[in-house]
Amino acid sequence: MSPRKTYIWLILIFLTGCSSQGNHTLETGAVLLEQKCAFCHNLDMPPETYEKESAPPMMAVVFHLKEFMKIKDLKDKEDKFIPFIQDYVLYPSKEKSYCDEESLKSYGVMPSQKGNVSSEELKVIAEYMYTFYDQQVYLKEMQAKAAFDALSKGEQLVRSNGCLNCHAIEKDKVGPSFRNIAKNSTEKIMDVIQNGSQGKWKQFNNMMMPAFKDKFSKEELIILKEWIDSLGKIEAPKPWRSKNVI
Ligand code: HEC
Ligand code: HEC
Repeated sequence: MSPRKTYIWLILIFLTGCSSQGNHTLETGAVLLEQKCAFCHNLDMPPETYEKESAPPMMAVVFHLKEFMKIKDLKDKEDKFIPFIQDYVLYPSKEKSYCDEESLKSYGVMPSQKGNVSSEELKVIAEYMYTFYDQQVYLKEMQAKAAFDALSKGEQLVRSNGCLNCHAIEKDKVGPSFRNIAKNSTEKIMDVIQNGSQGKWKQFNNMMMPAFKDKFSKEELIILKEWIDSLGKIEAPKPWRSKNVI
């Protein structure tokens, strides 16, 4: 999934508490933005860097507009942010632009999109831009990504392949905890991951460990095995020291 798609889902999940009308508007906004603006603006958050771009990435546009226009709350969004987008896209000018001199020189002023997009559509687009390019959401996601990147490769594999649906590191769940496996398994761990298992751990009610046959490369299987083994060698974190023990 592209980072942008992930964000769309994040936002849609985020808003499930709101009326379906709100979600509907945002979905329409996402589609319109793609249709009307992606030709020049990179819409990803964060944007991939291009050698040669014809317009500033949309994330940069929205972040700096919110800053320069001092958009603080929903009222500012309605009173300043949305009207600015509606006006600028149809009647752009050097004077109105918040773009710095240098960038304006290299990009040139945005060509008017009159005839390509209507003021009503721009309202919906602006609504979506305001919600989607959110610094707080972006920051949180970046922090989560940094935290994930800081994990050992073994834990990353376990987290990104659904193992934690059934296993936890410290606590028995649908299947035994990874620490329990590290201490007590007599099986060849790499074989089990590839071929699955059932009925060997009596306390798990014959629950099945699915086969991950061709899911992992040989190197990844070794990393997984070594990660599980390592849990048998280090002491478990004390639950009263960390809230995040899983
Ligand atoms: C043909 C290329 C092109 C298309 C299509 C385009 N833009 Fe732009 N846009 C630019 C360029 C170039 C700039 C940077 C120069 C400027 O600020 O005018 C820009 C800047 C902007 C700015 C920033 C203005 C500022 O003050 O910093 C906004 C907002 C914007 N575009 C919105 C949109 C929206 C919304 C759409 C789709 C409806 C869109 N643009 C479609 C080329 C384009
Ligand atoms: C649908 C639930 C489920 C998922 C997903 C799952 N497991 Fe398991 N796993 C189990 C169960 C249940 C057992 C105990 C099986 C038994 O009793 O034979 C088990 C056992 C194991 C064992 C111990 C083998 C032994 O026999 O000693 C290892 C190692 C293991 N799982 C690793 C993994 C890894 C790595 C992943 C992710 C790639 C994973 N599991 C995903 C349910 C699951």
